[in-house]
Amino acid sequence: MNAEGKTGRSRVSRRQFGKSAMVAWLGTLAGETTVAAESVRGNDSSDPAQWRGDFPVLTQSVNGYPLAYLDSAATTHRPRQVLASMNSFYENDNANPGGTLHLLARRAYQKYEDARRVVAKFVNADDSDEIVWVRGTTEGINLVASAWARPLLRKGDEVLLTVAEHASNLLPWRLVAERCGAVVRCVRVDDEGRVSLDDLDQKLSKRTRLFAFSHVSNVTGYIAPAKELCARAHAAGARVLIDAAQSAPHIRLDVQNLDCDFLVFSSHKMCGPMGTGVVWAHRELLDSMSPYQAGSNMAHEVEFTSQEFEHGARKFGAGTPNVAGAIGLSAAIQYMESQNRSAIEAHEAQLTRHALKRLAAIPGLRVLGPKDSAGRIPVFSFVLEKHSPQEILGYLDERGIAVRAGDLAALSLLKRFGVTAAVRASCYLYTQISEIDRLGDALSELSRSQPRSRNESD
Ligand SMILES: Cc1ncc(COP(=O)(O)O)c(C=O)c1O
Repeated sequence: MNAEGKTGRSRVSRRQFGKSAMVAWLGTLAGETTVAAESVRGNDSSDPAQWRGDFPVLTQSVNGYPLAYLDSAATTHRPRQVLASMNSFYENDNANPGGTLHLLARRAYQKYEDARRVVAKFVNADDSDEIVWVRGTTEGINLVASAWARPLLRKGDEVLLTVAEHASNLLPWRLVAERCGAVVRCVRVDDEGRVSLDDLDQKLSKRTRLFAFSHVSNVTGYIAPAKELCARAHAAGARVLIDAAQSAPHIRLDVQNLDCDFLVFSSHKMCGPMGTGVVWAHRELLDSMSPYQAGSNMAHEVEFTSQEFEHGARKFGAGTPNVAGAIGLSAAIQYMESQNRSAIEAHEAQLTRHALKRLAAIPGLRVLGPKDSAGRIPVFSFVLEKHSPQEILGYLDERGIAVRAGDLAALSLLKRFGVTAAVRASCYLYTQISEIDRLGDALSELSRSQPRSRNESD
């Protein structure tokens, strides 16, 4: 098997077969032949106020004001249904998972594997063996860089990114390229942050081994034409990685329709727990890759000088897994899917239109990225004349409004917009129009005031 070689579809080892037969037998003994994923339901409502009621953290006050949490692109909150599912695991089932061990270990194993199936369905994967658990998008991209790119890249090969990438979809490629003598190249974006298709076509070449891009920008909220980008990269013979950190929370993902090679996302940006994420890749591609980390659970017949690595996603699951994290992500997916998705999309579109209108009316405020409400998610980065992003953050925080400020881990894109720092307000299903109004009112007020000295705003 070489780094990129096809190994053929699954090669089921004697041991794997033995394992599943044993699980079935033990399961029968325990009356648990099929363990369906516990269903987590939202309130099946179309009413944003009802969704909000599921998020206990949002009921608090900050500095005497009701919390207006506008930092969901950094991390979302978790509904009580997700918290309950994780709690229930620890209260009832906690054990180091093992399909052929004692009852609790089997239950932990089942729940972990059920969660993998829920994620597989969520991205429309062929098989749950294509779902690799990682700590988040950052670790997922590092996994692909180490396990796929590093053995494959040769001197002069190219990895193509866009100028809009998050640091987590830039640094892993820079490091791996340096080690292999490969080159990282960058596709331009237009004045509003949209990927230049002409520049992409120009930069794709026989040397391009991978094109990696963010599906949705964490700065502008712009949704890239991912299917089109994948098709163009494939036509040039390159593999494609989609950084779906900001799209998985808002957009229905279908890896088969997108026709990408790798798709990576984080649980904590979509109502799930921190410390869990996913890499999806076709089974054949996973089989062709080197292990990322080594240890228990990713190999069998381990002796001092030999071992048999597991296949598919399991090759990348070294050590005791984060079972509660997987259960939490699965619960978050089920929570979102049990809501009225069209109503959520309509609510987010309304938030976008309203926010763009309010922000456009503030003197001296410039929104970075598309001014159009179509083709984007409710994420808005902006700068305000005479007021530094840090000062704005402090001013809003004093009024109970939580936003993010700084380089947003996308300095190259900010520089493309002519700034080195910005403020970002970002929404999710629980965001209310009234919170956008509070943001708009506070920014209008600030725009009319003199900038505070550094000491005052510190
Ligand atoms: C577009 C994008 N990619 C990658 C990441 C990294 O995600 P994580 O910190 O969950 O690994 C983020 C986080 O903000 C992001 O917005």
